[in-house]
Amino acid sequence: DLKQIAVEGEPGLATYDPGFVNTASCRSAVTYIDGDAGILEYRGYPIEQLAEHSTFLEVAYLLLNGELPTAAELEQWTHDITYHTFLHENVKQLIEGFRYDAHPMGMLMASVSALSTFYPDAREIHDADNRKLQIARLIAKMPTLGAFAYRHQLGKPYVYPDNRLSYTENFLAMLFKMSEPSYQADPRLVKALDILLILHADHEQNCSTNAVRSVGSSEVDPYSAVGAGIGALFGPLHGGANEAVLAMLRRIGTTDNIPGFIEGVKAGKEKLMGFGHRVYKNYDPRAKIIKKAADDVFAVTGVNPLLEIALELEKIALEDEYFVKRKLYPNVDFYSGLIYEALQFPPEMFTVLFAIGRTPGWLAQWSELVQDKEQKIARPKQIYTGHRTREFTPISER
Ligand code: ACO
Repeated sequence: DLKQIAVEGEPGLATYDPGFVNTASCRSAVTYIDGDAGILEYRGYPIEQLAEHSTFLEVAYLLLNGELPTAAELEQWTHDITYHTFLHENVKQLIEGFRYDAHPMGMLMASVSALSTFYPDAREIHDADNRKLQIARLIAKMPTLGAFAYRHQLGKPYVYPDNRLSYTENFLAMLFKMSEPSYQADPRLVKALDILLILHADHEQNCSTNAVRSVGSSEVDPYSAVGAGIGALFGPLHGGANEAVLAMLRRIGTTDNIPGFIEGVKAGKEKLMGFGHRVYKNYDPRAKIIKKAADDVFAVTGVNPLLEIALELEKIALEDEYFVKRKLYPNVDFYSGLIYEALQFPPEMFTVLFAIGRTPGWLAQWSELVQDKEQKIARPKQIYTGHRTREFTPISER
């Protein structure tokens, strides 16, 4: 896709690279990916080790600060996050103002952006202590906003945070508590959800992070920048893919229909959702961990009947010349929707979970951007393909 093109009226050559396939937009020390080898590391730590031994808040600290916390640092960080979980009551009213059937991602995007009006101090982006405060605020409030958006859609009363609970338990309680008065999260389900949040916590210059960096490069406050990232994540080619995977599996219906479906994909009628990745030309390491987490979840909830179709679809695709030649493997979204459904999340909430997980990554990248002296405002070139100077025609003569 990369072409060297002479731009009319400008000296030398410009690079035409739609989708930035071969253009580095920044230097970053946060996340390392080797797409051919299927390697993902946060600050040098392999994702497999973090998923097994760490917690989401600890990983968030690592992404933001570059090192794993000591016990005292983790305690302080957990306290800081817990302290900020509540929303201003007017944010709640903002959410109440949305239509009853509003998509939770739309509500999340709007309410995160609206936080910039509640915290005008967030504009002091070059003050390190201030950045730390806004970062803790946003990570703390994301589950509350996500849960309020969910309850709004169901027309159920909001459940306020219970700060005796862990980050992930609190989120589950805010979502499900009053609909089932005896609701108590099963620790195995809490662990599985925590792992899913860890797997989504960062992924270097993906579409939404690029949006956060691009908007952040204008030196706007972090809520506005992350609001833009949530917009990017909402799209079906990015965070919306897991929702699309479930719809696809449902449409396929039975394993007998898989060969016919695959033929349609190969004929270009549609995409096999949850397959393929811009960076991974091998099995997405996150998909492997998710497959294992799915087994743990299904041990508690019973097997999702769509799993059989997903497993068979993967098997057939991985043996098919079309997918092999193009190096198309399952990505993180292929199995995550099945787990979310088993955890009783409706499909519209899947991308909200992704957004909550990705928030520390967005903020780590934003913080890195703000401190990077080489960074400039994002402003790509274009190859102009339109008319050159023309005379205006009066409407009576057109
Ligand atoms: N099903 C069928 N064919 C596919 C798929 C797919 N899922 N993905 C790519 N291809 C084909 C393309 O048609 C193209 O074929 P061609 O060379 O004959 O034209 C070739 O594979 C290369 O694909 P590109 O579109 O060039 O790859 P790109 O890197 O631009 O796109 C993307 C990556 C957007 C993820 C793509 O694979 C896709 O749309 N997948 C389905 C959606 C999805 O699962 N998204 C989640 C991504 S992960 C995440 O956001 C967390």
